[in-house]
Amino acid sequence: MASIFKKHGLLERHSMLLLLGIIVVVSIGGLVEIAPLFWLDSTIEKVDGMRPYTPLELEGRDIYIREGCYLCHSAMIRPLRDEVERYGHYSLAAESMYDHPFQWGSKRNGPDLARVGGKYSDAWHRDHLIDPRSVVPESIMPPYKFLAEHDLDYRDIKDKVHTMQRLGVPYTDAEVNGAEDDLKAQADPTASPKALNAHYGQKINIRDFDGNPDKISEMDALIAYLQMQGTLVDFSTYKADAPANKR
Ligand code: HEC
Repeated sequence: MASIFKKHGLLERHSMLLLLGIIVVVSIGGLVEIAPLFWLDSTIEKVDGMRPYTPLELEGRDIYIREGCYLCHSAMIRPLRDEVERYGHYSLAAESMYDHPFQWGSKRNGPDLARVGGKYSDAWHRDHLIDPRSVVPESIMPPYKFLAEHDLDYRDIKDKVHTMQRLGVPYTDAEVNGAEDDLKAQADPTASPKALNAHYGQKINIRDFDGNPDKISEMDALIAYLQMQGTLVDFSTYKADAPANKR
């Protein structure tokens, strides 16, 4: 024992030797943690229900980014008890796997929006976006009335979906080519949803989100995006303690 301490004295007296020792030990730790990642295909666990955004939701997401909603809202529920009790199941990696870039955010002037989908009616969102204080008197959120007045500019939606496809989001060519039709079909309850459902499944909100049937507004797209936030994963089949999901 005593001789080990004597040798340790060598390290303590020679800072360069100590530095070398630290580098060796930290490298071993780094190797153990990082190296396995090179042999894993994906660190994102598979869950049921995830699908890419519909074209209308994708446009809504772009408006969310354009308006800087992420500056006041996070979209990622941390696995902490107070967050889970307030917002619902903590966010899974799979839930942001089609986000380029993800909207986790780092600031919460307002509440987290990762699971805001279905929490309120479309009419509530419309009123809230037009004048937040009409529904939440103490709100400090700015009004976004113009979103209901602006026509949604979706001329480049096909290119946007194509870009996502190139980034690895599994859109099919039919979904890229049908992007504009799918976008219109989702905001118009009188249109045939057949192609839209064939592309993105049955669990899609199809309606006139902003309550104005005369046009597809930026508000339509933003509410479509908000209303699907956090609603895709089927938590009835998701088991956090399943062997495949255990670390
Ligand atoms: C200056 C900060 C700020 C910005 C920017 C902002 N919000 Fe908010 N937001 C808030 C605050 C504060 C609240 C809580 C009070 C309320 O409900 O109005 C809130 C609440 C909300 C809620 C209700 C959440 C819930 O669970 O009750 C939604 C939805 C929402 N914001 C969406 C948006 C969208 C979409 C944008 C961008 C167009 C946006 N916000 C921009 C501050 C902000």
